Amino acid sequence: MIDRPLRLPNGARLENRIVKSAMSEALADARNDPTEGMLALYKRWGQSGAALLITGNTPVDRNHLEHAANVVLDERSDPEKTRRLAAAAKSGGALALVQIAHSGRQTPEALNDRPLSISDTALELPGYGAPRMASEDELQAIILRFATAARLARTAGFDGVEVHGAHGYLLSSALSPRINTRKDRWGGSLVNRSRLLREVIRAVRAAGGADFVVAAKLNSSDFQKGGFTPEESIETARMLEREGVDFLEISGGTFETPVAYQHKAGKPSTAAREAYFLDYARDIKKALGIPVMVTGGFRSAAVMRQALSEDATDLIGMGRPFILDPAFPRKLLAGDIAAAPAPERDFPPAEALPRGAVLNWFCHQLALQGTEGKAEAGLPITTGHERYLGRIASSTARLLAARAAASC
Ligand SMILES: Cc1cc2nc3c(=O)[nH]c(=O)nc-3n(C[C@H](O)[C@H](O)[C@H](O)COP(=O)(O)O)c2cc1C
Repeated sequence: MIDRPLRLPNGARLENRIVKSAMSEALADARNDPTEGMLALYKRWGQSGAALLITGNTPVDRNHLEHAANVVLDERSDPEKTRRLAAAAKSGGALALVQIAHSGRQTPEALNDRPLSISDTALELPGYGAPRMASEDELQAIILRFATAARLARTAGFDGVEVHGAHGYLLSSALSPRINTRKDRWGGSLVNRSRLLREVIRAVRAAGGADFVVAAKLNSSDFQKGGFTPEESIETARMLEREGVDFLEISGGTFETPVAYQHKAGKPSTAAREAYFLDYARDIKKALGIPVMVTGGFRSAAVMRQALSEDATDLIGMGRPFILDPAFPRKLLAGDIAAAPAPERDFPPAEALPRGAVLNWFCHQLALQGTEGKAEAGLPITTGHERYLGRIASSTARLLAARAAASC
């Protein structure tokens, strides 16, 4: 079943069920355009055998980055480099989407100490400034930025975009009653809290056209007291289907509850334990007619087949395996390997490591795939973690220097 094609509502055809989920690359140049290393990596991923590649978090606003080395998609982006990125990703026949995002209150303080957010509720983590509640006009401007990014993605040759409505970034934070304390039409009821995401999707659809793939990534839950719940996720998914979304990717968590990239999800003897959002996705999928993609933990072909045959998902999203072996889908589809690489299973539990160390180790390996053409799987976790922090610190210094030079 993994090799069975799937047609999306907009008419696009995916050759099989394997999708590379979004992974922030940290491979942009000083102008936040793709580097040659990033283009080379997407060319390799383009030959991977996956049916669809989704780029990493691509902010639509330079003042609200996820980190300094993000590729940005706005009017100042280099159209030729964006075109080359789309061409590289599509060079082996896969479809390619840009994941468009606004970081909101999860924008690092070093880049913006007063980021716009849905409210003034601050992130309970060090390194993030006090957010400011966006006005009506500012929200309208943000919606326009998403539409602009969709238009630019289309012009560059991408097949569509995935709107990042998960992991605590602006659109996801708007869904959470814990964060979104607004009293106007953007807060309160779920209809109001989902308005920003829905209006972004509507604007993106209008900008991209009927044949453009418009997907959304949504949390199954924030896994936070007073946050966005599984029941609200199902209701939101229904609303997004009515907005004409072509498929919905299911994930979970925020920066404060980083459950999207678990590495000790229990003994992987059942599909739900390996693919840790599968049970949530099953309930969401039952409520929808559009395809669903589940991302998080999938590694073994047997579990992928089981999830597809039980109709718990239509697409298998994977991230980390693409970092260690950019060619694994072809091998899995051919039956040459029974499972995708999963080095994280041998790592110590997160509590025994510095905060974010496992994710940063993978971020470093991803950057190495771009700059060196290969990962360094034997690198100790804390070394990879520290090298990634160093990479981000120098990208931050470079960006701040460029901003200072531009303002002179
Ligand atoms: C290095 C790295 C960067 C990531 N960046 C993003 C991102 O930019 N956008 C996003 O939606 N998810 C991001 N994720 C989450 C992945 O898309 C995926 O949901 C998660 O890794 C779980 O899937 P996996 O178990 O197959 O790795 C990232 C994960 C990793 C490991």
